Amino acid sequence: MAFTSRRMDNLTPLFFAALDERIAAMKTAGVDIIRLDVGSPDLAPDPAIVTALSQSALVLDRHGYTSHNGPLVLREAWSQLYWREFGVKLNPENEVLPLLGSKEGIFHILLALIDPGDVVLIPDPGYPTYTQGTTISGGIPYFMPLRPERGFLPDLSVIPAGIAQKAKVLWLNYPNNPTAATASLEFFAEAVEFAQQYDILVCHDAAYSLITYDGFQSPSALQIPSAKERMVEFNSLSKSHNMAGWRVGVAVGNNKALRDLLTLKTHADSGHFMPVLDGAVVALTGDQRWLHERNLVYQQRRDIIVSELIQMGLMATKPKASLYVWCPLPQGYTSLEFAEAVLDNAYVSLTPGIVFGKMGDRYVRFSLTSSLERTREAMQRLKKWMKP
Ligand SMILES: Cc1ncc(COP(=O)(O)O)c(C=O)c1O
Repeated sequence: MAFTSRRMDNLTPLFFAALDERIAAMKTAGVDIIRLDVGSPDLAPDPAIVTALSQSALVLDRHGYTSHNGPLVLREAWSQLYWREFGVKLNPENEVLPLLGSKEGIFHILLALIDPGDVVLIPDPGYPTYTQGTTISGGIPYFMPLRPERGFLPDLSVIPAGIAQKAKVLWLNYPNNPTAATASLEFFAEAVEFAQQYDILVCHDAAYSLITYDGFQSPSALQIPSAKERMVEFNSLSKSHNMAGWRVGVAVGNNKALRDLLTLKTHADSGHFMPVLDGAVVALTGDQRWLHERNLVYQQRRDIIVSELIQMGLMATKPKASLYVWCPLPQGYTSLEFAEAVLDNAYVSLTPGIVFGKMGDRYVRFSLTSSLERTREAMQRLKKWMKP
């Protein structure tokens, strides 16, 4: 007897789950692999955050269930961050919804909003959860190609009106994974106008908004006046505060969409462990100067990767934000073939662009989450393999 639902037919296993297994087997066989694939920060959070978590864990009344929409103090802390970083005012009562990592909310909001047959506009390449959450909800993905000549911004004007009329959600993600592109407020204004024209909700994934370089500041799409009528923005402490394992994310903006997401979540999870939230409040409200220092560390790694790739004859450019370098491939490879060859021969693990969609297949993604020394070593290994 087969127990699997038909809904699962279109759900593809996460690429990184299989990669983890493969790398674990290679490591067991004694191979030293350098991982420049996944975007999990290798550095520790600020010690004050960890201290807040550990002290809280010693207090007896911090071990029970927490409320589904999180304690007010946490929602206020997210509002503070949005005001401080972006000048965006959020009502902590109904415009801030804590999530178990932003991925959880990205997946669940689609279940809460999409009916079978609804179209969801999704960037290609793009973070895979937008597509998987759409198909499991019975929705129909419509892929918007992100091309280098447009700075990896989708061209909303070429989406056929018939598709736009059936669309319920438009996904955007800037700073972008995997292309590392950034978007201006002018582009976000255009997206809000498009959403108004076709009665669409914009879901903007801003998971990398605080990882920026060379003095660049990435805007929040909610800086556009009236955006809240049409937009939910997702954010997270995973990348910004080196807290990926803590699972602290947030959805902010349109209160009706957030209410639907909350209703769904009351049946899907039972909130966070309170000491995690006590640490999160310190992360959001404490001294943020260390973030700048941390970004300089990523910036150095970025510079090494890009300059080595250029020396190898590849057309890599320096990103202004995110944890990635998105590099066009040399001729003659698909992205999977290239990443496999590099893993097998240079013992460096990269992410093939195809993981993010068809438009990614001419690229490979380098992550900035290995130490400077290991990053240098990885690039030497790659160079040796490319030009023996
Ligand atoms: C674009 C993007 N959005 C969201 C997430 C999810 O992050 P988290 O669930 O840790 O907040 C990731 C993680 O890699 C990502 O790359």
